[in-house]
Amino acid sequence: MSTAISPTAYNYKVVRQFAIMTVVWGILGMGLGVFIASQLVWPQLNLDLPWTSFGRLRPLHTNLVIFAFGGCALFGTSYYVVQRTCQTRLISDSMAAFTFWGWQAVILGALITLPMGYTTTKEYAELEWPIAILLAIVWVTYALVFFGTIVKRKTKHIYVGNWFYGAFIVVTAMLHIVNHISLPVSLFKSYSAYSGATDAMIQWWYGHNAVGFFLTTGFLGMMYYFVPKQAERPIYSYRLSIVHFWALITLYIWAGPHHLHYTALPDWAQSLGMVMSIILLAPSWGGMINGMMTLSGAWHKLRTDPILRFLVVSLAFYGMSTFEGPMMAIKTVNSLSHYTDWTIGHVHAGALGWVAMISIGAVYHMIPKLYGREQMHSVGLINAHFWLATIGTVLYIASMWVNGITQGLMWRAINDDGTLTYSFVEALQASHPGFIVRALGGAFFASGMLLMAYNVFRTVRAANPAQAEEAAKIVVVGAH
Ligand code: HEM
Ligand code: HEM
Repeated sequence: MSTAISPTAYNYKVVRQFAIMTVVWGILGMGLGVFIASQLVWPQLNLDLPWTSFGRLRPLHTNLVIFAFGGCALFGTSYYVVQRTCQTRLISDSMAAFTFWGWQAVILGALITLPMGYTTTKEYAELEWPIAILLAIVWVTYALVFFGTIVKRKTKHIYVGNWFYGAFIVVTAMLHIVNHISLPVSLFKSYSAYSGATDAMIQWWYGHNAVGFFLTTGFLGMMYYFVPKQAERPIYSYRLSIVHFWALITLYIWAGPHHLHYTALPDWAQSLGMVMSIILLAPSWGGMINGMMTLSGAWHKLRTDPILRFLVVSLAFYGMSTFEGPMMAIKTVNSLSHYTDWTIGHVHAGALGWVAMISIGAVYHMIPKLYGREQMHSVGLINAHFWLATIGTVLYIASMWVNGITQGLMWRAINDDGTLTYSFVEALQASHPGFIVRALGGAFFASGMLLMAYNVFRTVRAANPAQAEEAAKIVVVGAH
């Protein structure tokens, strides 16, 4: 084994930009989450203005947390991982820079148009056609940078994390383009090319796989790199990771109809979606176990390393939400959970517990390495952040379970004469304490992000350009 410093360097500039923006958008998206959660407690916060009403800010929240926060985390980590595991610089600096600025422009477009009320009305695909086209162009450029870098790799082998990132990139392009096919009638209004039940099916094929490929497969790519790195152990089973990959991507694509139970969608399609969702438990847990077991022999590190705690607890929440999801996909369970806060709790078990926690862990891992520092400015602050995030997530999801089951049972309660036992408003009143606890949990989570911003700021400020340049040098390890 020999170690040689190569004269060439990784493109860390674009990774740094995306990493910093992950924190910035995290604060804004989650801050907005706390605001809309507070609107559900105190409706006066709608401020009697159309731009600040819950109906317009809710999609802005989902776009900011999924595409701005989650998206920047995925772009940044995938560029970091693909360069390091392929031991080569990104194929094009200018294309990578275009993906950064193009992505920020898409988010800015969302920030302006959604409060103004411009929307396709399709959930998670609200952005109107000019922004959707920009998004498609940025995405195709991203695919060229990512796969181009894989093609020019210096290693023989393509590390499994890249397989997951690659599938996330290809499938997201396919979903976005197919679901957005529409007829523009003015600058900010278009009509979907599909109609009726077909439109619903295409939308939830998109919606579910946005969860499956954007919020899951991409973050699994992150997991396969950052968990072994932070634990300083090889992945538990490489063979399991390959089985995990093929099983996950083969199954996810069929599960969309579980969002349309008891609708005009053909019954066979609903049942197919249900069965595929139940089978999906197996690869999901296979992946979770592979990540968790990577710590065998290194569990003691959890006592002193809060970054590892973020990564491992995110896997625990991943396991929890992928157990809950298949259960909610069973038609009889869904008849209770659908339309209630149970769904919202499930969403945030995945979104806060899994997506946000693993991204936070990955950014804490990367920042010192990107700026040539030994470690983050304060490990104590990372620890405080970890507890705020964990307690915040638990408060959020526990209150939504209680609310969801209460709402479901109250809505279906019937008197002997066949009339409803409770009015809708009574169910809403019963939900009020849960709304307060959820807003509190969200405030915990969001305040942790502020600690992170301070910690990142201090770490970056302490770095000097020479250290940062040194950190980007490609160190080729191997027998040459
Ligand atoms: C401080 C953290 C957060 C708070 C307080 C929060 C709060 C909320 C609230 C109040 C809603 C609307 C619920 C309703 O309509 O009844 C919502 C919806 C949603 N949020 Fe969050 N959120 C937070 C973080 C996140 C993150 C990090 C993600 C994703 C990575 C996320 C993804 C979503 C999604 C997908 C929905 C729509 C759910 C659905 O339609 O079923 N949220 N959030
Ligand atoms: C095996 C894995 C999973 C299955 C089978 C599953 C299943 C489900 C089901 C049945 C629903 C309720 C549909 C409805 O009644 O409308 C749902 C909603 C949702 N799930 Fe999952 N889930 C899984 C994992 C996840 C993960 C890991 C996340 C987040 C990272 C997530 C995010 C969501 C979102 C955002 C929604 C709300 C969609 C909407 O109505 O706006 N799911 N899921």
